[in-house]
Amino acid sequence: MYYSEEIIEEVRSQNDLVDVVSEYVKLKKKGSSYFGLCPFHNEDTPSFSVSPDKQMYYCFGCQAGGNVFTFIMQIENFSFIEAVKYLAERAHINLPESEYSGETRKKLEEKKILLNIHKEAAKYFYANLHSSRGRTAVEYLEKRKLQKRTQKLFGIGYSNIDFNDLYKYLLYKGYNEEHILKSGLVISKKNGKSHIDRFRNRIMFPIFDVHNQIIAFGGRVLDDSLPKYMNSPDTPLFDKSKNLYGLNYARVSGKEQILIVEGYMDVISLHQAGFKNVVASLGTAFTSRQALLLKRYTDEVVLVYDSDEAGTKAAIRAIPILSSVGLKVKVMQVPDGKDPDEFIKQNGGENFQKLLNEAMGAIMFQVHILRKKYDISDAEQKIKFTMEVAEILSKLDNAIERDVYIDELSRDIGISKESIFGVIRKIIAEKERSNRKQINYKKVSETFKDNIRIKQENNEENGLYKAQKNILSLLYDNPHIYEKIRPYLSFEDFDDATLMKAAKLIYERYDKGLNIEPAVLINNFESLEEQKKISSIFNSKEKNKYNDRDYDIEKAINDQIKLIKRASIDKKSRTTTDIYKIQTLIEEKKQLEKLYINIING
Ligand code: GTP
Ligand code: MN
Repeated sequence: MYYSEEIIEEVRSQNDLVDVVSEYVKLKKKGSSYFGLCPFHNEDTPSFSVSPDKQMYYCFGCQAGGNVFTFIMQIENFSFIEAVKYLAERAHINLPESEYSGETRKKLEEKKILLNIHKEAAKYFYANLHSSRGRTAVEYLEKRKLQKRTQKLFGIGYSNIDFNDLYKYLLYKGYNEEHILKSGLVISKKNGKSHIDRFRNRIMFPIFDVHNQIIAFGGRVLDDSLPKYMNSPDTPLFDKSKNLYGLNYARVSGKEQILIVEGYMDVISLHQAGFKNVVASLGTAFTSRQALLLKRYTDEVVLVYDSDEAGTKAAIRAIPILSSVGLKVKVMQVPDGKDPDEFIKQNGGENFQKLLNEAMGAIMFQVHILRKKYDISDAEQKIKFTMEVAEILSKLDNAIERDVYIDELSRDIGISKESIFGVIRKIIAEKERSNRKQINYKKVSETFKDNIRIKQENNEENGLYKAQKNILSLLYDNPHIYEKIRPYLSFEDFDDATLMKAAKLIYERYDKGLNIEPAVLINNFESLEEQKKISSIFNSKEKNKYNDRDYDIEKAINDQIKLIKRASIDKKSRTTTDIYKIQTLIEEKKQLEKLYINIING
């Protein structure tokens, strides 16, 4: 973590949750809480509540919940640090720079200067476009039917034909040569003796990051000369494998899907037609960094590609990269060899939407492409085709979906469903066998960590998880039972890493005789997933107030503690080879079955 606990708590406490939420949601007071329509799911009756005392929010409809950091992370799609910075600014708190090391601070300062250079350059290009020198460029944009509003929204400008106009301008603005060269907008020639602007006589497209800061440019010629596009090189600000053009708008479009297209003009043109959920990779093959970036903002993407060979190839290449981070992938093909920009200008948004509605699942798309490669009338090719399709279908988790494809395939090529099924089952069995040998979680790469986290989330509602969550809820609602439970259940018995950390924090507070403040506790967790998990502890729907004669709850507590403890002992037994330790564990387990914690008459 960058910042100290004290600073983070200061930022949190200076941003009243009711005020912050009110900037996004209309709230109404009801009893001690405020209610409104949940901004995180669609609803007609308010189930989104904000508690001014707890400084927590919770939605009874979609279970979204957390403190003020969680809220800003969720609604602005920010990381934890971004949310801290944003809320610090909102409360006029200066975050201490001294928490950065000297090296880091230097880098940040340089980045700031480079960002300013880009901002200055964008203003310059924009002014150029609207000066007399930009006349041909303006005509070009008119020819391409870009409205003034759209041009402005995307900050489109023009770099004029002169040799080093921008360079001179930036010097005049007070930037030094070193920084100007680092920005990538100017190139030095003849061993540094002369300088030329990288972009000359081009339509300029600023490339924004997700915070709407300009980090690079793309430039297009006004005619058919080559190269058609030029992009900024990689700089301290810009790494094209990590950014997506249009994401600054797409991420707040409020749509469930994000469309992926190939070109700048496609993004802009679709945006103008009302499709604001569009991004383009920056003229390179899709990378897993870009896929992960998208995953932060959406669960489903649609590859919108030309139906020509290059477009199809690009789609086929992108599918596994996108799927591997857990994104649901669809493919929409634009007919007649057009790109989305040309299509929408000729056929309008409604027809584009129609094609979008018909977008195929990635699996179906792959099968269709394969089908074109083989001549099914030839027996050998037919078998090869079937084997390849079976390989693809074996990757589907959804049995119903698989069944639909098998049905269609069987009809299409005249091979019985049973035979196809047989082949798929064999492939799956084979994979499972080799998987069992290969799983080694320590070696799991960054990309796959996300997948695993998703799987864990699906597991969360199992009994063991519920028991852990429940015990923590009970402890929060009934501090007086802590001392009864403490001797039997240590925080290390918690199996879920996040809940274990929460248990540790709760135990520490109670050991010191302090109360639990949910909003403060959440400060200790940086990821949205973790914050959601923790906040659900404090919003448990179970009736948790422990009443002095409540034998039912007492029994439930005992059952849950046994469940957690049993799992904990089992886990320890699995990971130890020390025979004495194993014997102790066996004994411990025996004792556990006899355990009954008397809370009422204890
Ligand atoms: P228009 O021809 O203006 O409609 O552009 P487009 O956006 O349709 O571009 P196209 O489909 O030809 O190319 C897709 C993307 O690839 C562009 O937006 C650029 O990012 C990139 N690209 C295309 N041509 C070049 C090139 O010559 N050099 C580089 N570096 N990138 C290019
Ligand atoms: Mn185009």
